[in-house]
Amino acid sequence: MTVTLYVPRDAAALSVGAEEVAQAITHAAATHGEQISVVRNGSRGLLWLEPLIEVATPAGRIAYGSVAPEDVPGLFAAGFLRGGAHARLLGPTEEIPYLKRQERLTFARVGITDPISTADYEAHGGWRGLRNALALSGADIVEAVIQSGLRGRGGAAFPAGIKWRTVLNTTGTIKYVVCNADEGDSGTFSDRMIMEGDPFVLIEGMTISALAVGAEQGYVYLRSEYPDAERVFEAAIAAAHQAGYLGDDILGSGRTFHLELRRGAGAYICGEETAMLESLEGKRGMVRFKPPLPAIEGLFGKPTVINNVITFASVPIILDKGAKYYADYGMGRSRGTLPFQLAGNIKHGGLVEKAFGITLRELLYDYGGGSASGRPIRAVQVGGPLGAYLPESQFDTPLDYEAFAAIGGMVGHGGVVVFDDTVDMAQMARYAMEFCAIESCGKCTPCRIGSTRGVEVIDRVRQGERREANIELLRDLCETMLHGSLCALGGMTPFPVRSALDHFPEDFGVPGKAAKAA
Ligand SMILES: Cc1cc2nc3c(=O)[nH]c(=O)nc-3n(C[C@H](O)[C@H](O)[C@H](O)COP(=O)(O)O)c2cc1C
Ligand code: SF4
Repeated sequence: MTVTLYVPRDAAALSVGAEEVAQAITHAAATHGEQISVVRNGSRGLLWLEPLIEVATPAGRIAYGSVAPEDVPGLFAAGFLRGGAHARLLGPTEEIPYLKRQERLTFARVGITDPISTADYEAHGGWRGLRNALALSGADIVEAVIQSGLRGRGGAAFPAGIKWRTVLNTTGTIKYVVCNADEGDSGTFSDRMIMEGDPFVLIEGMTISALAVGAEQGYVYLRSEYPDAERVFEAAIAAAHQAGYLGDDILGSGRTFHLELRRGAGAYICGEETAMLESLEGKRGMVRFKPPLPAIEGLFGKPTVINNVITFASVPIILDKGAKYYADYGMGRSRGTLPFQLAGNIKHGGLVEKAFGITLRELLYDYGGGSASGRPIRAVQVGGPLGAYLPESQFDTPLDYEAFAAIGGMVGHGGVVVFDDTVDMAQMARYAMEFCAIESCGKCTPCRIGSTRGVEVIDRVRQGERREANIELLRDLCETMLHGSLCALGGMTPFPVRSALDHFPEDFGVPGKAAKAA
């Protein structure tokens, strides 16, 4: 009997030896005369356990991790093809608490299916949203997305359905759907995991968006540092074309949608939607003035839907199970789920999809298991490099767009980067300014020049030079950047800087609570 094994081909798993493990298993199976079929799946998101391999047994899938090539002979000797006991045995995959307690809507299939098999996708509920959408008018699709409460997952949390309605109602024979897969935020990897682990859900979501607004061409703008995602996604586009889910006659409906992948230019600012459009048009990634909104004059001057990977990937389930099903998850105006990404100094780093409303503390301790170093967690940056640094006193804040805004933070793309009590927050404030100086597109003065001056002022503070006066100057500069910058790179860099000053003043040499480790 052929035994099916799952060895992830996700970049995180590959980085810790999944390819070598797959080869060792294939070699050992041949030696032992065992018939096996190895599926290269996406990662389950328990990244500290990668390479996490699974064996399909009559009792369900059994997980082993972290597996090294040297473990393979012992695994065969222990009868792991039948779920045998071994030091690396984790038990039934779905029973692992980190996974069992999640609410996976967007990531429902990641790690479960063969990422580039359209049939496997269909067998696990795929394409149902698209089939439903084909029977609806554009306005009805838009209405379903509005009713679901889905907001953009790339950072700004703008309601996706409202954006789609603008594109739908803008006259024009040519419209575009563009997916922002630049994923530049620190500590984030959910876009990559979708593209490597369940690319069809993104293809399906973009196709539904195209049907809604009347677009026939779409582009995915992919972070240049994601070669594995590029390979998997290109294969998925080809398979979807082949099977009739993309092309000139989607599932015999007479509707057309073509999708192409474009590799990004490797700059953080190219994730900003208008700079991304410039880059897609073959120009240098510079931010455009708004208005006009991209929904009215976007790619090549045409009405364009721009959404993040996770936004599009959340659409199929809405069209499949209904807007209410999705909206029943979450709290307040933050409906549905968000795939949070735990990174930095955290014991159990990985992906946790939960409904909005879970607190930061629950994520950090119930899922993350505390810091990797075993030391107290002192600060957490949520929402990428422009997010505020949050102190322990704010860890009970529920992850909700409004609750985070109320404490000066942002949920953004759901990245959570953890620091223990050895962190120097003045150094982190300097890093935020330096990041802005390096990544600035240069179009406006507060960002281009302000960030460089900001680094210098922080250096003076750290050296003890006219400390009080320089801190005042730094706060003034933050105010100018906040109000005078054209886009959120310059406009939000003050958030990490000011939060470091507000919550960790002792690190700048001014009186405050002495929380930092000696
Ligand atoms: C400096 C900067 C970088 C950004 N980087 C990204 C990114 O990497 N990925 C992304 O989806 N959105 C990014 N955004 C947000 C986009 O401008 C835009 O709001 C988003 O793509 C819209 O999709 P959504 O509504 O689905 O979130 C960035 C914004 C700024 C200001
Ligand atoms: S804030 Fe910075 S990145 Fe944004 S437009 Fe101005 S110079 Fe460019």
